[in-house]
Amino acid sequence: MSAVEMKTACVTGGNGYIASALIKMLLQKGYAVNTTVRNPDDMKKTSHLKDLEALGPLEVFRADMDEEGSFDDAVAGCDYAFLVAAPVNFQSQNPEKELIEAGVQGTMNVMRSCVRAGTVKRVILTSSAPAVSGRPLQGDGHVLDEDSWSDVEYLTKEKPPAWAYSVSKVLMEKAACKFAEENNISLITVFPVFTLGAAPTPTAATSVSAMLSLLSSDETQLKTLKGLAATGPIPTVHVDDLCRAEVFVAEKESASGRYICSSLSTTVVAFARFVAGKHPRYNVKTDGTVNQGRELTVNRFQGFPEKPRVCYSSEKLVREGFEFKWTDLDEVFDDLIEYGKVLGILPQ
Ligand SMILES: NC(=O)c1ccc[n+]([C@@H]2O[C@H](COP(=O)([O-])OP(=O)(O)OC[C@H]3O[C@@H](n4cnc5c(N)ncnc54)[C@H](OP(=O)(O)O)[C@@H]3O)[C@@H](O)[C@H]2O)c1
Repeated sequence: MSAVEMKTACVTGGNGYIASALIKMLLQKGYAVNTTVRNPDDMKKTSHLKDLEALGPLEVFRADMDEEGSFDDAVAGCDYAFLVAAPVNFQSQNPEKELIEAGVQGTMNVMRSCVRAGTVKRVILTSSAPAVSGRPLQGDGHVLDEDSWSDVEYLTKEKPPAWAYSVSKVLMEKAACKFAEENNISLITVFPVFTLGAAPTPTAATSVSAMLSLLSSDETQLKTLKGLAATGPIPTVHVDDLCRAEVFVAEKESASGRYICSSLSTTVVAFARFVAGKHPRYNVKTDGTVNQGRELTVNRFQGFPEKPRVCYSSEKLVREGFEFKWTDLDEVFDDLIEYGKVLGILPQ
């Protein structure tokens, strides 16, 4: 492909889990990619980017969402900007500042860089499922689609687990939408659910280490998993499908608005049962006790719903022509386990 035909995409936060997989996919598709990291000298977090350079033209820029103008160089000349970086610290002691304020201001900083670039045809903002589901839902059988919004007032007042993450995603999206409209930018927001599967980055994201805690028994991660699963469902998507969906909505001219990206609907109880049944060799421990196999793994989640009370619909994405490839829980989990071994979370 000649340099004239080659499209350029910026992916923010290249040392992150989803961003690393997206960079790899874009390079494999023949894109030139610019990515950003906060500290390019941190080889522990960025070594995979060196490896990815073998796939195509990849340039790494230093940029911080907290600094106005920081993304100007990275988005200059790009056709697409994938805004993947965001604060995701669930353990923050000051979530108002570190998640909400930093997330909204940081997103706006990158959006302003996109306008200044003058070449960006479309911005694809990676949001998250809690941006559509955080509101009081009575009873069972709710199907959430792109018309659903989390209720910021309710979340701020009641403070359910991970409330600030949901609020940050809603406010980030609202601010980005308003700005895009005012500046005539095409903006698409993608809502991934729990994202699993192997990616190039050598450091694990929350979703990966939290789900692998079912096997690793890492108590901090188990606590995170319980918090994320408290309201019932653990809808999942394989990271490859998510990245394919992000590229699909970027390239499809008629795409617009919001897209939920979810291919499997299950619960943490079902996951625990599945894992304990299929992978007893991990002999999961809890509170220092040796697991007696299947029972303990499942008993950890006593009181959690057996069936998803809420389901995330990706009908819009599918109706517009997208096809999920990873629709088998077994395959998704096998891939996650192999990745867990690479990351050193699980023994070889
Ligand atoms: N994983 C999931 O299951 C899932 C599901 C739904 C939505 N999402 C969304 O997908 C996006 C990526 O998540 P992930 O799972 O890939 O998480 P991740 O691996 O933790 O990546 C987060 C990235 O954001 C960067 N970042 C944080 N604060 C920043 C700042 N102030 N300036 C510049 N970069 C900053 C991090 O850089 P450092 O390494 O320097 O901290 C990191 O590269 C997030 O928006 C998340 O909300 C993830």
